Parts: sequence; structure tokens; C-alpha cells
Amino acid sequence: MLVVLGLLTSFLSFLYVTAPSIRKFFAGGVCRTNVQLSGKVVVITGANTGIGKETARELSRARVYIACRDVLKGESAASEIRADTKNSQVLVRKLDLSDTKSIRAFAEGFLAEEKQLHILINNAGVMLCPYSKTADGFETHLGVNHLGHFLLTRLLLERLKESAPARVVTLSSVVHHAGKIRFHDLQGEKYYNRGFAYCHSKLANVLFTRELAKRLKGTGVTTYAVHPGIVRSELVRHSFLLCLLWRLFSPFLKTTWEGAQTSLHCALAEGLEPLSGKYFRVTQPEQHSPFSAILGKWHSSASPRRPPLLVAESGKRAAGAAWGHEGGKKTLQLPRKQAKGMDEEDKAFKQKQEERKTFQELKNPRQEGKGKSKTAQMSHEAKNL
Ligand SMILES: NC(=O)c1ccc[n+]([C@@H]2O[C@H](COP(=O)([O-])OP(=O)(O)OC[C@H]3O[C@@H](n4cnc5c(N)ncnc54)[C@H](OP(=O)(O)O)[C@@H]3O)[C@@H](O)[C@H]2O)c1
Repeated sequence: MLVVLGLLTSFLSFLYVTAPSIRKFFAGGVCRTNVQLSGKVVVITGANTGIGKETARELSRARVYIACRDVLKGESAASEIRADTKNSQVLVRKLDLSDTKSIRAFAEGFLAEEKQLHILINNAGVMLCPYSKTADGFETHLGVNHLGHFLLTRLLLERLKESAPARVVTLSSVVHHAGKIRFHDLQGEKYYNRGFAYCHSKLANVLFTRELAKRLKGTGVTTYAVHPGIVRSELVRHSFLLCLLWRLFSPFLKTTWEGAQTSLHCALAEGLEPLSGKYFRVTQPEQHSPFSAILGKWHSSASPRRPPLLVAESGKRAAGAAWGHEGGKKTLQLPRKQAKGMDEEDKAFKQKQEERKTFQELKNPRQEGKGKSKTAQMSHEAKNL
């Protein structure tokens, strides 16, 4: 018994000591870009904390609007970013996504103030809220995470088009795969599960991005959905259990800076336009880690689809969203299993990637310094994390 306990303790200690390396290994890419941000205008929702705050910090070479529901929290984040980055163009404006009046007031104020908008990041989100409704009577997850951002984007769309090339990045989540659009009970009045309510709203984010991309074709405005990874943030604040787990496993969870990299990539990387409407997630293990050689071999031998550092899903799941039935009622859901093989979009994407040789560039980030590539890149450098 003592031996087992001893072994377990040693194993756990080993796990915790190596946790930062394990985390960095799986954290994914880092957005490297030489894109000129001065003169650009960015709006980020919910940027007073978490992933949004780090995204704002990284984009602070532009004029950044922190759109948040608590102006005091926003000001405190903005003054921290201003002090860190010496950029005084970090501005705070009130935006409560759970109230369409507040969204309209924000949009009105912004449109009066700014003649351009180049990047809109729909970042704010709530998770696992007890059942509640927004000021307009929408279930909170759907209302804040999707409908609020839907309205905001709609209201700012003309300004985005006038400022093209422009981008809309919407924070979704990997859990959108468990989501359904329950048209017969959108507000969760008949059945409510707070976990699923979050998944449904994140699926709505992915579908919104896809449809928006279609409607914006040819306008110069492109749009992307993002899964930032599992990130150490305040998102779990409504669940005692998750708060506990987040604390326990915090060394293994991404930092908010690491979590911001996928949003930054979608906002800045050059050449992403053909991928408008896609869902991005980080999958590729770090290239320079001790395991990368082994994993690299494994990838190339076991899978013909060696992914780039940041993978844009073909959207097959979203494209394959199908009408289903739940208790005799119509629902829109995604297939549980991802279909095998490549579809046409996958092939086109892979071809484009190969053409640009971005993967080769990413494998050798030093090229950037030599001026060989000015493209935005996602590469993983453990020492930078
Ligand atoms: N963390 C993860 O592991 C993870 C994983 C997948 C996806 N995501 C997504 O990433 C995004 C950012 O999450 P995070 O981890 O940074 O969470 P976070 O630290 O809790 O930040 C969420 C932000 O949204 C704001 N917000 C909430 N309700 C709002 C409302 N009604 N109006 C305006 N702003 C509101 C919050 O403001 P207050 O501070 O005032 O509450 C906060 O600034 C979310 O969309 C989330 O779904 C996160």
C-alpha cells in the first residue's frame, strides 16, 4: 500500500513539475506577423479580462476599442495595457451584449466616432450560467454569445465594408460539436441544461461565421470562427466544480496569452481570405520540442494530411449540419463523427497552403528575420511562451 502511495505521489509530482513543458508542447502556434497596425481600428468585445484582454494588448499598435459591460473593469485593463505598451490609443466603451439597447447605443457611438473599422473580434462570452434571460428575453448563452454578437456585427457591417480589407473573428469553442440548434425551444424554456446551452450558442457562432462569409463574398470583408484552446480564464466562474478543476489543473491549461494566438492569427495573418467562413483551432504539436521529431514522423507516416500549425477545419461538420429530430421536434445538429477523407474544400485548402509554402516558413521562423517572409505566421516557440 505504501509503495503504491509512494509511486502515485512521485508520478503526480513528476506530472506537476513537467506541467509547463507539457502545456507549451500542446499550446499550439504563436502569431508572428509584420502586418502594419498603425492607423487600423479594432473593436474587441469583452476585452477587460481573459483572452480578450491579451488580444487587445497584442493589437495595441492599432487604435483598440475595448467594448465591455463594466466600464470600470475596462478602464483598469486599458490603463494596464497603455502602461505596458505605451500606446494611448486603447479606448473603453460600454457594451452589454445582453441588452440590444446597449448594443445599438455602442454601435451608434462608434459609428459617429470612427470612420473606419478593420478588425472586429467577437470575443465576449458566458458559460454555464444558471437559467436566465437577457433584457430582450433571450436565453442568456444564446443571447450574449450569439445574438448579441450577431446584432453588433450587423450594425457595424457597412463600416467594415467601407474599410475593406476587414475581418470579423468570432470566438467559438470546440464544444460546438456537441451543440444543436433547437428551433422548437430556442430559449430553453422546455428543457435547459447550462452545459448544452453553451454548446448550442457556440455552434451558432460557427454557423453564423459560415453564413456571414457567404454573404460577404466579394466585399473584402472576411470572417473566421475560433477555438482558443482550454484557457485559464474567468470563463468558468459560474461553476464551482470547474473553478476547482481549473485551479487543480491550471499548470496544464493555456495562459490567456496563448489562448489569444488563434484570434490574432485570424485577425492578422496574410493570405487567409480564401479560408473565410472556416473554423480555426490549434492542433499541431510544437516543432522544436523533444517529441516533435517522433510526432513529425508519426504524422507523416500515419497521416497523409500533415496539418499546418493552425488548422482551418474544412467546415465539413458545419457544412454537414443536418436536420435531426429530438422528441419528435426538429433540430439542426452536426454529425458526431467527422467524415473520413478529404472533401473538395480540404483539397483546395491543402493545395493553397502548399502553394504558399507557409508550412515550410513556419518550420523555420528565422526566415522572418531575414525578411524572406512577411506573412503572418503561426509557429510554436516554447521559449517565447
Ligand atoms: N477559456 C476557455 O477555455 C475557452 C475555450 C473555448 C472558447 N472560449 C471562448 O473565448 C471567449 C473569451 O473567453 P475567456 O476565456 O476570455 O473568458 P472570460 O475571462 O470570462 O472573459 C469573458 C469576457 O466576456 C465578457 N462578457 C460576459 N458577458 C458579457 C456581456 N453581457 N456583455 C459584454 N461582455 C460580456 C466578460 O465581462 P465581465 O468581466 O464584465 O464579466 C469578459 O470580459 C469566450 O467567447 C469563450 O466562450 C474560451
